[in-house]
Amino acid sequence: MFIKKIFLKSFRNYSGLEQDFSPGINLIVGQNAQGKTNLLESLYILSMGKSFRTVRDTELIKWNSKGYVVKGIVIKKEDELEIKLKYLKNDRKRVWINNVEKKHLRDFVGKINVVVFSPQDLSIVKGEPSKRRSFIDKELIQVNPLYSFYTSQYNKVILQRNNLLRSLSKNSKDIGLLEVLNKQLAKYGTQILLKRQDIVRKLSILARLIQRKITGGKEDLEINYISTIGDVTDKAQRVIYNIFLDKLQKMKEKEIERGITLVGPHRDDLTFLINGIDTKVYGSQGQQRTTALSLKLAELEFIKSEVGDYPILLLDDVFSELDRDRQRFLLKTIKHVQTFITVTDGMHADIQPDRVFRVEKGVVKECFGIGEIGKNTKDQNQETWS
Ligand SMILES: Nc1ncnc2c1ncn2[C@@H]1O[C@H](COP(=O)(O)OP(=O)(O)OP(=O)(O)O)[C@@H](O)[C@H]1O
Ligand SMILES: [Mg+2]
Repeated sequence: MFIKKIFLKSFRNYSGLEQDFSPGINLIVGQNAQGKTNLLESLYILSMGKSFRTVRDTELIKWNSKGYVVKGIVIKKEDELEIKLKYLKNDRKRVWINNVEKKHLRDFVGKINVVVFSPQDLSIVKGEPSKRRSFIDKELIQVNPLYSFYTSQYNKVILQRNNLLRSLSKNSKDIGLLEVLNKQLAKYGTQILLKRQDIVRKLSILARLIQRKITGGKEDLEINYISTIGDVTDKAQRVIYNIFLDKLQKMKEKEIERGITLVGPHRDDLTFLINGIDTKVYGSQGQQRTTALSLKLAELEFIKSEVGDYPILLLDDVFSELDRDRQRFLLKTIKHVQTFITVTDGMHADIQPDRVFRVEKGVVKECFGIGEIGKNTKDQNQETWS
């Protein structure tokens, strides 16, 4: 799949943009703070319905504007799709596919698939458990529309349950309601656990192969899902459900005392082991970076295996951070993937892009080849668009 063309209106620092792209490598060059990441952000929104940088849609609206529009023409398995998202202040986000408005954002998310790799992704390896949970959740939402239903139901139960736990510490009358909520939590939680375990198993196999290739066979990467309810590896749905309920029963006193739900997928984690050793704790900077790269490339292969087509790859500021060998490995791997690579001026050494664009103050100009990056020979922007 690839994005053939994008239209932006009042999005971040873009007043209006109409730009077509190559199905191969698109290099986006420019100085700092010109709008390179903003452009990638708009492409990501076409896939996920929200930004990878913020949860607040108002931040995406160009200052002093009423709202923003992002529209893309996408080629997916030879079909042409028009995907559009519009957000006006004080209104809900509205989405269209081929001019038909969709009632729910979840009917829009994942129509095209995108993998983004930015310096912040190192926090998947190094950061807090929430980063790792959100990483797998984002993958699952893209390939499994039901997943966001399970997570939103689960989160609703958590809220209700936490309120109840707090009130139980003062008055233990509602213990019957707790049992009801436990069953609901275990029901949705089990679905989440099954899906997460499955994706982690697949990503682990793919990432291991990639890490071996990058390191010439020296590093054996293993990704494990660590659940707070206990060992649920390879267990059947019914068994996981019962383990979950047992654990909630065991934790009852402690949870009432603390007033929060202490176990379940909202508290689970992943580990990345290199040759059996935890990369988060003991890995070198280089090993952590390689792990993040392997993970992202595993994501590409995972989405390909699930939806039958490679996703679009957005590399924001990471290319120049990699050493030569890793850069070469990456370029070899993405031969059949539409890729957008942002680089600041002068950092595009080994890339052989199909098209090159220069971004300056929210205006995109195409350049014909690396040698002409500074010449701004073709201006495809339109200041007004509706
Ligand atoms: N809602 C908005 N309206 C107008 N301008 C905005 C908005 N949000 C961000 N900007 C501007 O966009 C610019 C940042 O753009 P972006 O993050 O894409 O930069 P970049 O080219 O990726 O830079 P770097 O190389 O530093 O990563 C900043 O100048 C910021 O002030
Ligand atoms: Mg940037």
